[in-house]
Amino acid sequence: MVNQFPVIKRNFLFLVIQEYYRNYENNNKILSNYVHDKTPKNILTLLKICLTLFYFSKKPQYAIVNDAVEEGKYSKKEKLVNAVLRNILLNKNKIKYGKFIYPNFKKILDKIFSSESIRSYIYSTIFTKPENYQISLIDNQKAIYKKRVFILEKKITEGCFVQDIGNFEVINSVRKFFKDKTLIDVCAAPGGKSILLNSFGFNVVAIDNSQNQINKFKDNLNRLDIKMNIQKVNFLKAKFTQKYNSILLDAPCSALGTFRRNPDVIVKIDQSKIKKHQKIQIKMIEKSLKILNKKGFLVYIVCSFHPFETIEVIDKIMQKHKNIKLHNINSDKMIKRQSGYFINPLSFKELGGSDVFFVSILEKIK
Ligand SMILES: C[S@@+](CC[C@H](N)C(=O)[O-])C[C@H]1O[C@@H](n2cnc3c(N)ncnc32)[C@H](O)[C@@H]1O
Repeated sequence: MVNQFPVIKRNFLFLVIQEYYRNYENNNKILSNYVHDKTPKNILTLLKICLTLFYFSKKPQYAIVNDAVEEGKYSKKEKLVNAVLRNILLNKNKIKYGKFIYPNFKKILDKIFSSESIRSYIYSTIFTKPENYQISLIDNQKAIYKKRVFILEKKITEGCFVQDIGNFEVINSVRKFFKDKTLIDVCAAPGGKSILLNSFGFNVVAIDNSQNQINKFKDNLNRLDIKMNIQKVNFLKAKFTQKYNSILLDAPCSALGTFRRNPDVIVKIDQSKIKKHQKIQIKMIEKSLKILNKKGFLVYIVCSFHPFETIEVIDKIMQKHKNIKLHNINSDKMIKRQSGYFINPLSFKELGGSDVFFVSILEKIK
């Protein structure tokens, strides 16, 4: 449906949705002073969208109220909508946006990050639009980090591709475990990690089961003038005739770690969905182990910090498979937790912060 709008409206809509979710709990708190508990959910949502527009857009206030009243008519709540919004506008200068965090999200974050300073930094990053990064295919002395990472201003620079600095850190720190220069990336599209590994001299066999994502991957390759073998394959169903020494598994997940650029994930945490992710993640690791040679390395990555998708996945694998050894990663930008490492966004504070990734290094010893 969103795709039916002209690009300029789509961009505006995207920004409003981002602010709506960033301030979800703030808006709940503000609104609770103006409505009673029995207000229908759709009206609450409408009022929260209006609050977002009042504070984070340049749209004239009368137009926001008029549109909302029209919308309220469908539920016969136009009088309520009108009264609440006018009341809010009367008090607009007195209303202060706090830093309230959606409780469910905070609970999960607090489980993983025990340090007070890391936690308060991460909380603060929820409320501001994050810095975007681009990575150069070749070393460049002007880069802000490890000769490769640049801030993405407006347009992507030639010879660069978009990637979070945390993502770069993960791949840069684990690549030394890939002893074989040929490696298979089994969930490769849209190609961020494959392209980075290719730029470090690896010959990447890339597979993914989503045509849509593969198309984005191919666009990236064309723009960067890189040749890479990418195939549309369902990794869980595919039969492999060959085994590998190096496997990258960047598994599908809740994407909770990307909350700064996708703040909707903060509110949409769904335990049962995450449990389903966990099942797939475990299946994918087990399939990877089947096609991994003895003494080979499997790198498991997710852009999440939910325990179900991270520590618990690896714990379950370790309980069931006795031929696996976990390896330590040498990075001062990551925090070790039992069976793997989490990117510490605080360590990138001076550069603009980072998404949270989890990574675990598995060696098949027998
Ligand atoms: C986290 S994304 C990968 C991102 C990618 N590695 C990058 O750095 O750009 C997970 C990918 O797994 C793919 N995927 C999900 N289930 C799959 C399956 N059964 N077989 C292959 N790919 C799958 C999705 O299409 C998605 O592109």
